[in-house]
Amino acid sequence: MQSFLQFNPTKLWFGKGQIEQLAQELGTPGKKVLLVFGGGSIKKNGVYEAVKQQLDHMQADMYEMSGVEPNPRLTTVKKGIELCREHGIELILAVGGGSVIDCAKAISVGVYYDGDVWDIITRKAVPSRALPFGTVLTLAATGSEMNNISVITHWEKNEKRGWSSPLAYPAFSILDPEFTYSVPLDQTVYGIVDMMSHVLEQYFHLTENTPMMDRFMESVLLTIMEAAPKLLENLHSYEHRATIMYAGTTAFNGLLSSGTDGGDWASHQIEHGLSAVYDIPHGGGLAIIYPNWMRHCAEDDPSRMTKLALAVFGVDPTGKTDHEIAYEGIEALRQFWNSLGAPNCLADYDISDARLEELIHKSFMKEQVGSYKIMTRDTVRDILTKSL
Ligand code: NZQ
Ligand code: ZN
Repeated sequence: MQSFLQFNPTKLWFGKGQIEQLAQELGTPGKKVLLVFGGGSIKKNGVYEAVKQQLDHMQADMYEMSGVEPNPRLTTVKKGIELCREHGIELILAVGGGSVIDCAKAISVGVYYDGDVWDIITRKAVPSRALPFGTVLTLAATGSEMNNISVITHWEKNEKRGWSSPLAYPAFSILDPEFTYSVPLDQTVYGIVDMMSHVLEQYFHLTENTPMMDRFMESVLLTIMEAAPKLLENLHSYEHRATIMYAGTTAFNGLLSSGTDGGDWASHQIEHGLSAVYDIPHGGGLAIIYPNWMRHCAEDDPSRMTKLALAVFGVDPTGKTDHEIAYEGIEALRQFWNSLGAPNCLADYDISDARLEELIHKSFMKEQVGSYKIMTRDTVRDILTKSL
């Protein structure tokens, strides 16, 4: 195990009716608040009204920015920065899924940055100050509600970039599983694939002697796999929505990688390249890429995949080689995701090899792709080709 600091400053309010905590989180009455949200789902499912009631209660001076895209764009971040400056906003409130939250994170640091906020997103500049922001989560997937990561797309350049900063943790996040009842089946599945991928990315690390973390991760995966099919049968199940929601947060709030090297993350970089070019849902892209990445790694060294296959996918090892056990585990994961309705090849999104070289290029937005296994352009090409 490596030495580590465990620190997460986000205050998490979890459970039915926790929106009532919003008033106290606003602190003083009359605050200037920018409400950031997406394409309008919050106006249909009652979440907007629930939030507004709290803001009214605190006589907040409320401004709105709607229309944050899934895979949020730089242009929208800039619009939010302008609104904050124009109205002297004191608190940003992101109400939505990962896209809305990621957009709010970039706005909050962009407000105090004199240059182009893209500098921060591309890690050319380090933010020194941020507007406080909180979140009301409506979709269980990214973990953005309790981490300091944000992913923004420069659509004109077809670049999707992840950045992080100690300033990008939400001050508070309110998670009411009932607010996720209206998430449609496909988005629910993408969220499940995404959170499982976050655990898997961290599971594939190179640090020795991490039994505690490994079992944490195995337990999160087992919990998600137990709850997910039941949730899909009843999207209004409080119990299963709650399990999945908390699993999504736990999957990517720093806890699972304490003491490890942080894991691999090559599949995420490859997927970000894919959604930068084709604007597909992040979880959908991962469901396609991840098993092919696993297969690629297991061919060289099956040890970690074998461990996962035995601990999580219930593979019977009798009479099998490590490679056979590993491959069976990968197939079990693929079949599990497919059984939920996730896509399994790029053709499912009408993506051919026409822009293959561009996709490879877009996967290398950071100098190094992967850490458990460092990718070359040829290995990424191989994984993408197998994903067609
Ligand atoms: O725009 P609205 O109307 O809100 O609709 C959204 C959107 O169409 C809808 N939705 C959200 N809550 C709903 C709902 N529909 C009905 N009822 C509700 N309660 O769902 C659609 C997708 O929303 P989005 O926020 O895009 O999904 P998600 O949470 O999966 O976020 C995806 C983005 O996060 C990035 C991804 O790359 C992608 O850009 N990621 C962020 C990470 C982070 N910050 O830590 C890590 C991830 O690996 C990921 O890269
Ligand atoms: Zn992800």
